[in-house]
Amino acid sequence: MSAQVHHITHPLVQHKLTLMRNKDASSTTFRTLLGELAMLMAYEVTRDTPTQQVEIETPLEKMASPMVDGKKLVFASILRAGNGMLDGLLRVVPNARVGTVGLYRDPKTLQAVEYYFKMPADMAERDVIAVDPMLATGHSAVAAIDRIKATHPRSIKFLCLLAAPEGIRTLQAAHPDVPIYTAAIDRELNEHGYILPGLGDAGDRIFGTK
Ligand code: URA
Repeated sequence: MSAQVHHITHPLVQHKLTLMRNKDASSTTFRTLLGELAMLMAYEVTRDTPTQQVEIETPLEKMASPMVDGKKLVFASILRAGNGMLDGLLRVVPNARVGTVGLYRDPKTLQAVEYYFKMPADMAERDVIAVDPMLATGHSAVAAIDRIKATHPRSIKFLCLLAAPEGIRTLQAAHPDVPIYTAAIDRELNEHGYILPGLGDAGDRIFGTK
């Protein structure tokens, strides 16, 4: 059985996603909303993060209180659109580590080819959240997770903003152990691999490159 797809239906998440989908949203607005959504989605994707009791002193007395060991978390950005979610994620888990995965699609073989890969040391004790706003065909998500798994992290989750049913099927077939967190599951892909109704090219809209 495949790991769960967590559809984050919180009204604030859905409201901000609607604003982002609007073709008239400027790059500045799009980027700001993506950062806010990343913060809100971080709340859900880190829900089962382990905590440790630490001894502190309130103004009145000593107590043991729970804390997250943020350094155990790795936000692995799948370039380039994944970078659009990093700032928001790091605002809520400031001491998390950051990994980077750069892939391009070979136009002849259509296979994902790696051009950059960097993860923190000691992956066996870390929990990875791989991040790409768009889960479209699923090919780059599968290739990125193949590569991240080769570093033997303690766990991996996949966080996106929008998912196509095709991408979910492809990712679950290749990596049934990786839960997917998304704010929406859209209708389908078009012939160019864009999600419908979608929000267009996330990288272009984040970086203003179109
Ligand atoms: N990547 C995007 O940026 N948008 C899509 O719709 C699909 C993949």
